[in-house]
Amino acid sequence: PTFLKVKANKLANPFFVGMAVKAFQLTNGSQYDIILKNEFSSISAEYEMKMDQISTASGVYNWTVADKIVAYGNANNINVHGHALVWHNSVPEWLKNYAGTDAEFALEVKKYITDVVTHYAGKVKSWDVVNEAADDNGGTMRNTIFLQRMGPNYIKDCFQWARNAANAAGDTNLLLFYNDYATSTNIPKQNRVFSIVDDLKASNLINGLGYQMHNTYLSPTKAQIETDLNKAVAKGLRIHVSELDIQVNQFNDISTFTNERRLAQKAKYKEMVQIYNALPAANKYALTIWGMKDNESWIPYSTELNHVGNDWPLLYDANFTIKSAHTGFLEGL
Ligand code: XIL
Repeated sequence: PTFLKVKANKLANPFFVGMAVKAFQLTNGSQYDIILKNEFSSISAEYEMKMDQISTASGVYNWTVADKIVAYGNANNINVHGHALVWHNSVPEWLKNYAGTDAEFALEVKKYITDVVTHYAGKVKSWDVVNEAADDNGGTMRNTIFLQRMGPNYIKDCFQWARNAANAAGDTNLLLFYNDYATSTNIPKQNRVFSIVDDLKASNLINGLGYQMHNTYLSPTKAQIETDLNKAVAKGLRIHVSELDIQVNQFNDISTFTNERRLAQKAKYKEMVQIYNALPAANKYALTIWGMKDNESWIPYSTELNHVGNDWPLLYDANFTIKSAHTGFLEGL
């Protein structure tokens, strides 16, 4: 068979093919492990490297699970992308309820970023430093605890702390990403993201932009995606398609995965890969799929998406069999 990463590796301008993983899946010799090693050249932790997982109290860390994921990547010559240092949906309880002053709150965030980047220096090639800081309405900043406690410069501060920690640890090649979703269709949000990017660029703090791409078989259109990605190209940024999945049942209007939807999904995977593959070499990094098997996808359970029914958004079905979506991916290369 032709494996995704093998084909992507043979391109004139290759890129990593990434997979979102959970530590329990990484058992040596399991079917999951074999597919992962054959098909994928990068991993992101689906949730186990977020702040609420690693930070149990001020200055107290649970590294065990995250270390397992990073060690798996390092041992198997698989790139490790760090996801994510600062995200409003993964704030640990102790920090949510922090009784200290705003200045002390900022110091806690600084300490967290510094300690985590230092711990994984040389082992994690890139980090999403801040995730989802733009609001969905009106192109404003999302009103998170970080904005409230640290003020509008918090994103820049976080990137600066990450950069300082990496440099101090001797890792001058760490790639720093800003990551967000729905920017191809929500133009005020897209504009906000690029104003965040411009601000970071002015201080030479950002290397790349992560586009989550939790898409559907209908949306966004090719032109919408290209316009969005080309803005990052124009700014000389690396582009990470960081969380790709393609829903086919957004409105719960089908009860089984129909052949028509199967082919529509295949076409959409192919289109996304073609768009990504056409990027200039200097702007490529990785195209990461948010889960391997349909039955393990976050989509039907996400509160963020308000998804009411079942779905089949990934490349493999529940039995580890490749879907037409997988063929579409290969055809896009
Ligand atoms: C999701 C994971 O898939 C779930 O397993 C977890 O419970 C919640 O987070 N945007 C992101 C990802 O940046 O981290 C989210 O992942 C999906 C939305």
